[in-house]
Amino acid sequence: MSEIAAIGVFDSGVGGLSILKEIRQLLPGEDLTYLADSAYCPYGTKPVSEIRARILKVAAFLIGLGVKAIVVACNTASIAGLDQVREAYPLIPVIGVEPALKPAHGLTRNGKIGVLATSLTLKGDRFSVLVEQFGADVEVYTKPAPGLVELVEAGKLDTPETETLLHQYLDPLLEKQIDTLVLGCTHYPFLIPMIRNICGPKVTILDTGLAVAKQTVRVLEQNRILNPRPRVGEETFYTSGDPEVVNEVVAKLWSKKSVKVLKAQIEA
Ligand code: DGL
Repeated sequence: MSEIAAIGVFDSGVGGLSILKEIRQLLPGEDLTYLADSAYCPYGTKPVSEIRARILKVAAFLIGLGVKAIVVACNTASIAGLDQVREAYPLIPVIGVEPALKPAHGLTRNGKIGVLATSLTLKGDRFSVLVEQFGADVEVYTKPAPGLVELVEAGKLDTPETETLLHQYLDPLLEKQIDTLVLGCTHYPFLIPMIRNICGPKVTILDTGLAVAKQTVRVLEQNRILNPRPRVGEETFYTSGDPEVVNEVVAKLWSKKSVKVLKAQIEA
């Protein structure tokens, strides 16, 4: 495993850029290869077995590019198949993401936590284990939120359509008087300004980007594969969908005037 190789990061689409941003902050010298599996997006409404099979193909694509570690920057994919990716590539560190119930448990003041995530994430065994571990002495209200991923993919971060859908999902949680909201999907941090407006200042909003980036640093250190060269790292973006379409939204979310997104050939 080469220490100068890139770190591979993937999501069903552009949501994982919310994690990539944090990794870039903490690891300015690393090359980062990002794959948006746009041809298969969204993951969260599909059967677990299908997503499990798909992410093994996506991981194989990144391994083929020679990455030194893989960050599964997607709650849904992590819940569906993190263990399987680890089993398939025992020599490559694989870092996943899960809804931040543990920190929410520590932060809530009134013991009422809301979780917004995809249907697949909320149905997953790994999520049930999290609720068993950190939900026993608090109330955990979950809300599957279909449609939000597609809006972020379309770059619709602050449209009336987005606001209406967010109200539909958040209002019932606010009626339960949650004081802590877990964003259990990596697309949702891009909606935080609107979510904040709807929830008001008293609700703590938790996103996992920084925690995953810190874990990535720890894992690279433990494996002694941090890039030792003093340099500015580069990002390379791939999509399994249409690069022209994905280009635009990546540029918007990555806050760059333009980016070049390359086509990833991954069999269906
Ligand atoms: N960003 C993915 C997640 O964290 C979205 C899943 C989807 O494509 O539905 O769950």
